[in-house]
Amino acid sequence: MGHCYTARSLSSSSIQRVFDTRQRPLRNLRISVTDRCNLRCGYCMPEDEYIWLPRSEALSFEELTRLVGAFTLLGVHKLRLTGGEPLLRRELSRLVRSLSENERLEDIAMTTNGVLLEEHAGELLDAGLKRVTVSLDSLKRERFMRLTRRDSLDAVLRGLESLAELGFEKTKIDAVVMRGINDDELVPLLEHGKRVGAEVRFIEYMDVGGATNWSMERVVSRREIIDQLTDHYGELESTGERNSAPADRYRLPDGTLFGVISSTTEPFCSACDRARLTADGMLYLCLYAKQGKDLRAPLRAGASEEELAALISEGWALREDRGAELRLKEEQRSALLGKEELRADPRLEMHTRGG
Ligand code: 5AD
Ligand code: SF4
Repeated sequence: MGHCYTARSLSSSSIQRVFDTRQRPLRNLRISVTDRCNLRCGYCMPEDEYIWLPRSEALSFEELTRLVGAFTLLGVHKLRLTGGEPLLRRELSRLVRSLSENERLEDIAMTTNGVLLEEHAGELLDAGLKRVTVSLDSLKRERFMRLTRRDSLDAVLRGLESLAELGFEKTKIDAVVMRGINDDELVPLLEHGKRVGAEVRFIEYMDVGGATNWSMERVVSRREIIDQLTDHYGELESTGERNSAPADRYRLPDGTLFGVISSTTEPFCSACDRARLTADGMLYLCLYAKQGKDLRAPLRAGASEEELAALISEGWALREDRGAELRLKEEQRSALLGKEELRADPRLEMHTRGG
């Protein structure tokens, strides 16, 4: 790039925004900080065994901070840490602290299954984490166990409660709705959200990554979710917003807000501004993309933030992906990937790529 400046001293006017072939800006980055997880949700990790990314290949916190610096030179201002389970990454709050020194980042959030949250929430808040989303699909102990193959519901609920006590705001609960499995818990989940001050978002079951047991029959659509909740609560008001967020939001008669993420039946690819980074530094431009771009090699070869930004920008400018929309056009739909394909390339997994 050839200018004499350090990245840190740039003013926001020198951000080089980048748009893809569909005029979508790059604004959002999700980092899977580890592919390990302490739950085994049926829609994400249904198998008994997995091939893990070698630990030596995971980017260090220093490397991640430099890479995020490059992304923010291109206009990324929202960051989400995911996994696997991000809290299995040792000293995660140290990463948060280092990332929060980047003034271009307006928002650092985390998606967690909540199992280890009570223990870590305080240090994460101190370190600069702004928001937490907790994945929670059932409030029934037996069912939670069947869904996740671990007896961790109480720990998750305590973790969730600790967020409000510590003063975290804008907490969310993400629930994947599956027919015949937890579609009778929409109301209890909403009511629990009210109690703990969290906004619930119902997510349509997707056929991505490790969801090898997926079938269209199991998908409960946004329409059905709204109908069921209208039957219970009365007329719902749509807030009318649909941004890259990507939830459609509604208001219950008592004012409670909730969201529905209709990734399967009404995908929002045309507004998708997110890139995804695996723990070992592969960049993916779509949840459905089969190929990624290796950023670890240039990073470890000593590329500067500006050089890394140029590589990312090249990739984004060529982006055509609209994976979920293309899937919608397919007639006979079954799981996207088979077990063999997933074993051959574990980066195709949702827990590797970041849910
Ligand atoms: N369908 C929908 N959401 C999924 N997630 C993982 N797998 C799926 C899937 N097959 C999302 C969920 C979960 C987060 C960790 O990843 O939102 O809460
Ligand atoms: Fe469940 Fe999330 Fe772990 Fe996947 S990564 S098994 S969705 S807790």
